[in-house]
Amino acid sequence: MELTVIEAEKLKKKPDESKLGFGALFTDYMFNMDYAPDKGWHSARIEPYAPLALDPSTMFLHYAQGAFEGLKAYRTESGNIQLFRPQENFARLNRSCRRLCIPEIDAAFALEALKQLLKMEKGWVPSEPETSLYIRPTMIATDPYLGVRASHTYRFYIILSPVGAYYPEGFNPVKILVTHDYVRAVRGGVGEAKTPGNYAASILAGEKAHEAGYTQVLWLDGVERKYVEEVGSMNIFFVIDDQIVTPELNGSILPGITRDSVIKLAKHWKDSVAERKISIDELMQAHASGKLKEVFGAGTAAVISPVGEIKYGDQVITISGGKVGPVAQKYYKAITDIQYGKGEDPLGWIVQVV
Ligand code: COI
Repeated sequence: MELTVIEAEKLKKKPDESKLGFGALFTDYMFNMDYAPDKGWHSARIEPYAPLALDPSTMFLHYAQGAFEGLKAYRTESGNIQLFRPQENFARLNRSCRRLCIPEIDAAFALEALKQLLKMEKGWVPSEPETSLYIRPTMIATDPYLGVRASHTYRFYIILSPVGAYYPEGFNPVKILVTHDYVRAVRGGVGEAKTPGNYAASILAGEKAHEAGYTQVLWLDGVERKYVEEVGSMNIFFVIDDQIVTPELNGSILPGITRDSVIKLAKHWKDSVAERKISIDELMQAHASGKLKEVFGAGTAAVISPVGEIKYGDQVITISGGKVGPVAQKYYKAITDIQYGKGEDPLGWIVQVV
């Protein structure tokens, strides 16, 4: 497919890199592409970043038929720009699309379009430590129609945002609250798709956690409310004895790319790792017997986020003395070293842009 470029008349002022937060600033250009049944995916274009003009009846706005991705572009010390496992993001986007009845995109073309967009926007990839250019591929149903069915038309776009740390805590341990009252997703639902409704469903519990002085929620499964599933908008890992344990993918857990990277690196280094069901009771018992060494979240935005405290009912437990544990530290360093081109890339995960 052809990719046209429409030049911007005026470019924005670049932000102060030492003050970047997460997701509030956007670059000069975006990628857009449309779908219609008679044309398929068409009109691929890079054009100035601008608001979308949507009919108030646009199906996505009413029924959330859509999907998104999150990945980052990193600037290396030598000034190159690179991506971390981007093929996995476009593959997952297509899996989300299948679940949401959205026509799939050509993943190889989308990656090429993203690379071209990044070449134009390379000046927006920050160079301060722990900063990057967050990439948000987004898919929305665009029929102006209020009946509940699959839309016939779609817009796919990619926007870029220079970012620093996702949590104000940075890499310092966060406090999390186990919620029994709310669930994020259920098997058979859309929990394993990266789709907006999952995030909307998580907000109330997150707000209650904040009110109680906690950064995030620890989600239990939606059926028995017994097995641990995720933390906030991230996957979760435990170090029990000397084994790294993460909940197995069961249909309601998001198959995170950082999650998969931790598992693959652990296997590569022959660190003991298991994907299995883990109940909250097992976790509390492991803590009581001194076997729960570490807990950490894993996701693209925060990479590895150590957990220093968990509140479950009336019990409050402190993990790793409230400090960053060695396993979280090791995987954070290994993954970020690969991403920023500071360390070897043993599993061939880096894709060069420029
Ligand atoms: C992540 O990258 O960990 C996320 O899913 C957070 C994102 C929705 C901002």
